[in-house]
Amino acid sequence: MSIFRENILQGRVALVTGGGSGIGAGIAKRLAQQGAKVMLLGRRPEMLDAVGSEIRAKGGVAIGQSTDVREYADVEKAVERTASELGRLDIVVCSAAGNFLSPAATLSANGFKAVVGIDLLGTFNVCRAAFAHLSKQGGSIVSISAPQAFQPTPLQVHVGAAKAGIEKMTRDLALEWGVAGIRVNTVVPGPIEDTEGMRRLAPEDAETRAKMQKRLPLGRWGKIDEIADAVLYLVSPAASFITGTTLVVDGGSTLVSSGRFALE
Ligand code: HXC
Repeated sequence: MSIFRENILQGRVALVTGGGSGIGAGIAKRLAQQGAKVMLLGRRPEMLDAVGSEIRAKGGVAIGQSTDVREYADVEKAVERTASELGRLDIVVCSAAGNFLSPAATLSANGFKAVVGIDLLGTFNVCRAAFAHLSKQGGSIVSISAPQAFQPTPLQVHVGAAKAGIEKMTRDLALEWGVAGIRVNTVVPGPIEDTEGMRRLAPEDAETRAKMQKRLPLGRWGKIDEIADAVLYLVSPAASFITGTTLVVDGGSTLVSSGRFALE
């Protein structure tokens, strides 16, 4: 349940990449609940259909377009369709990401390229294609980063490079696009339960997971809704003077060393 009052995004249009599942889907549903019309981008159409149907069943407006964010021409088409079918574009959330655990010494160049392509190039592509519409009336971009951007993490050299690039690009775009009325920020989720990321990265057995959670300041993993609320805050009028910043939403987990858990 969101702590925000209803419909603070009435009349706004949002585009969310990675909107078919996990954190991206949670963000899209939260923005729609607050009155935004939503365009969902992702690679698997059946996932976009499911999230779109859920939003529409609750009275919201959502459309989806199967898109690989690495392909600029496809991204541009999706952005143009958003503006023509939903009337405008005010909010962009770049949540599409790829990840797997791999030692740097055996990671193939193509594996590195795949993750940097989805995360970093994909984020650039979406921001670049959206600029023409966001700059018409002003708008807001939020990209989803990860602690790996600033916290050295074993088996995550590809993700760390991609997410660090996103955070630097966020500050550069904030600097260039502020004059156009576009705010650009980053949210860093910590460990969030029920996400593809944690399914891929965290150990499977419940006892080890419980031990990991106990080490964290708030003693638990976060919920998708808690990331969605942070994004909602950043795109809302409550954050109207905030740009170029990184909001860490991690229950304090980056205050504790990641240690070597991923190697154990
Ligand atoms: C080593 C791997 C690998 C693995 C793929 N590759 N999986 N290498 N270990 N487990 C290599 C492949 O061998 C290939 O290189 C290259 O990566 C591209 O693989 P493809 O399968 O062709 O790529 P593609 O179909 O584009 O898929 C991209 C993907 C995939 C990233 C590899 O996993 C994906 O689509 N993921 C999307 C969903 C996802 O990952 N969600 C989690 C996000 S979590 P070669 O050399 O063989 O050609 C997240 C949060 C992080 O980002 C923070 C959490 C705290």
